[in-house]
Amino acid sequence: MPGGVRVRVYLGFRAGMLVGGCLKFHIRDMKEADLDSVVAIEKASFPTPWSRGMFREDLTRPFSRPFTAEDPAGEILGYVVCWNVAGEAHLLNIAVHPNFRGRGVGEALVKETIRRAGRAGSEWIHLEVRVGNEQAQTLYRKCGFAFVGMRKGYYTDTGEDALLFAREIRPADAT
Ligand SMILES: CC(C)(COP(=O)(O)OP(=O)(O)OC[C@H]1O[C@@H](n2cnc3c(N)ncnc32)[C@H](O)[C@@H]1OP(=O)(O)O)[C@@H](O)C(=O)NCCC(=O)NCCS
Repeated sequence: MPGGVRVRVYLGFRAGMLVGGCLKFHIRDMKEADLDSVVAIEKASFPTPWSRGMFREDLTRPFSRPFTAEDPAGEILGYVVCWNVAGEAHLLNIAVHPNFRGRGVGEALVKETIRRAGRAGSEWIHLEVRVGNEQAQTLYRKCGFAFVGMRKGYYTDTGEDALLFAREIRPADAT
């Protein structure tokens, strides 16, 4: 249901915690008015967060169309920044609000990224992920990405290596 309302009923254990309930959200393009929420999620998610200016600049780039997951009350649950250039997509940034993780938002965002990249004419999508970020790696594998290489010391803040993941985008992914 691309771009529409997604509902996921989730009841189970993750990291020893019982999580449950019904999470409703829809996916839409990011707007300038979202930036306070986006920057707050970014700061809660990364050791070296993107600045507000970086997100604002992305709103103006012709090859970028950042988008968000928003709940019915208007709260931003997560977002993606992905560039589509010369037939290739690069997923640069994805995060979900810590209070809403483990409930399907990240997976919906990655699937929407692939769909939008296909629609933009990209045939491959690439990303880097920290070697220690197992949640994200599991998510990417679940969405069809495969490990294709490594960049030693890529993250200058911690010196951590980056794993490179890639996925082919097939015509059916764009529908
Ligand atoms: C990575 C991130 C985006 C995942 O978002 P999320 O909404 O929690 O993910 P989902 O609930 O949609 O989970 C989808 C799949 O991801 C994997 N996953 C998510 N959280 C996981 C966890 N804590 N442990 C293991 N696997 C996990 C699972 O395969 C899961 O599928 P399942 O529910 O069928 O098991 C989120 O943890 C996040 O924002 N992290 C901080 C920012 C970040 O690391 N971004 C990626 C940078 S490369």
